Amino acid sequence: MTDHVGSTPELQAVLDASVDSVLIINAQGIIEQFNRSAERMFGYSAAEVIGRNVSMLMTGGDAAQHDSHLQRYMSTGIAHVIGIGREVDARRRDGSVFPGFLSVGRISDAGPTRFIGFLQDITVRRQTIAALQSERDRANRYLEAAQTMLVALSPNGEVTMINRKGCEVLGYDEHTLLGQDWFSTVVAPEVRSLAAAEFDKLLQDSHAQAHHFEYDVLTRAGARRQIVWRCAAFRGAGGHVTGILCSGDDVTDNRRAEQEARESRERLTHVSRLATMGEMATGISHELNQPLAAIASFADAARRFLRTGEAGQGEVQEALENISEQAQRAGEIIRRLRELVRNRQTRREESNINEVIEELALLARADARASDVRIALEPGADLPRTWIDRIQIQQVLLNLVRNAIEALSGEPDERREIRITTRRGEAGDIEIQVADRGPGVAPDMLQNLFTPFATNKSNGTGLGLAISRTIVQSHKGSLTYRQQNPCGACFVIQLPTNEENGK
Ligand SMILES: Nc1ncnc2c1ncn2[C@@H]1O[C@H](COP(=O)(O)OP(=O)(O)OP(=O)(O)O)[C@@H](O)[C@H]1O
Ligand SMILES: [Mg+2]
Repeated sequence: MTDHVGSTPELQAVLDASVDSVLIINAQGIIEQFNRSAERMFGYSAAEVIGRNVSMLMTGGDAAQHDSHLQRYMSTGIAHVIGIGREVDARRRDGSVFPGFLSVGRISDAGPTRFIGFLQDITVRRQTIAALQSERDRANRYLEAAQTMLVALSPNGEVTMINRKGCEVLGYDEHTLLGQDWFSTVVAPEVRSLAAAEFDKLLQDSHAQAHHFEYDVLTRAGARRQIVWRCAAFRGAGGHVTGILCSGDDVTDNRRAEQEARESRERLTHVSRLATMGEMATGISHELNQPLAAIASFADAARRFLRTGEAGQGEVQEALENISEQAQRAGEIIRRLRELVRNRQTRREESNINEVIEELALLARADARASDVRIALEPGADLPRTWIDRIQIQQVLLNLVRNAIEALSGEPDERREIRITTRRGEAGDIEIQVADRGPGVAPDMLQNLFTPFATNKSNGTGLGLAISRTIVQSHKGSLTYRQQNPCGACFVIQLPTNEENGK
């Protein structure tokens, strides 16, 4: 630093210690002081600049206009930079330019007016800001491109950020939503308190994982959308929650499609069940006729006993008991039938598979008997319980039994038997086998046995096995075909046990 008239040791020390460039100029813009940092920053020695106009350190317009700014200030007192500071471009000795932040003060003492300027090199700061900006732009582009709704909420539930997809689904523009209360503006009224409770849980849970839940929102036009949300808290430096970031997937259309598929599957299942029942009608009416005929004859007998007085009270009593037993049997058959043909929602319950098969056998036997086919049950012991829709599984079994009865139609009497076996499968699951001793599946049917409408029967729909497989698969099980040795068909149903189902 070059000494200058008027500089005190204190001033000197301040100037030398400053990491900013410090310059003192007079009212004409002539440099009087130029500290060490300035020498380093600009590449000039103090001796080279002192006595010259400060505009030599400036660029373009600033350099050209500096003198006139200074003059105007001196005559009007209106400052553009004093006490405010601004960003400027500064020129080094080698002609290169760097950005700086300039603060200027006026030195008012007894002597002529002078100005002191502090210039901070803000190259690094600019670069950092530019890098941050480009990171932010990139993050914003990701946000905009995401096919997921992204919403950030402040701890009091106000929207602080929402991406384009979010705006698109909700039908709001970004600026309308920013600052609004998320819950009262967007969340469907009946789930508001639920959603708010989840939100509070996230705010409080200090090591919160991303939470997963589903709630509906209302669009600006009032339409309802089903959204699956995943939310996580983000934290400030002190570890306290500064906001909640939620990503949401609009599943409305998927859910509707699933619902429609389920309904059409259920309709189809119902139609096929009715068709099966239609085919079983002969057997079933026969089965009902038996108890009804028995009731009629016991009633006749009882009336005769009473009229003639030839038998005692004991015989009458017995006849009445028989009547009641047969009526209950008929009632039971009708109850099962109604249960089977009713169109109903899927309903899973914990079941013992042997009981389910036992129940079904009542109807199946009626059908089989009409075709002179026997049904033998071989229930396995100690089977684990399974979580199934009883009626649906019974329908699968009915389809298989019906196919077997049809396959046995041309077979000699000793072969006319269907065997239903249950056992624990090799994989620990429950296995149900429905086996007959008919001709087995025809070779040309083997390829597409489970394909809808594949049939070789003149009045078959070819839906029985396709529907059965769908039902079993919806229970996370499988339905397969096994050729029997030496003859016959065997269909195997595998169902997961409760343990495998996590029940
Ligand atoms: N136990 C079996 N023995 C021999 N072939 C069988 C047996 N079960 C099924 N099939 C063959 O598989 C085909 C498809 O059976 P599926 O139950 O899907 O339809 P379908 O019985 O032909 O028609 P529907 O069930 O509507 O009466 C049958 O047409 C038959 O050729
Ligand atoms: Mg069939």
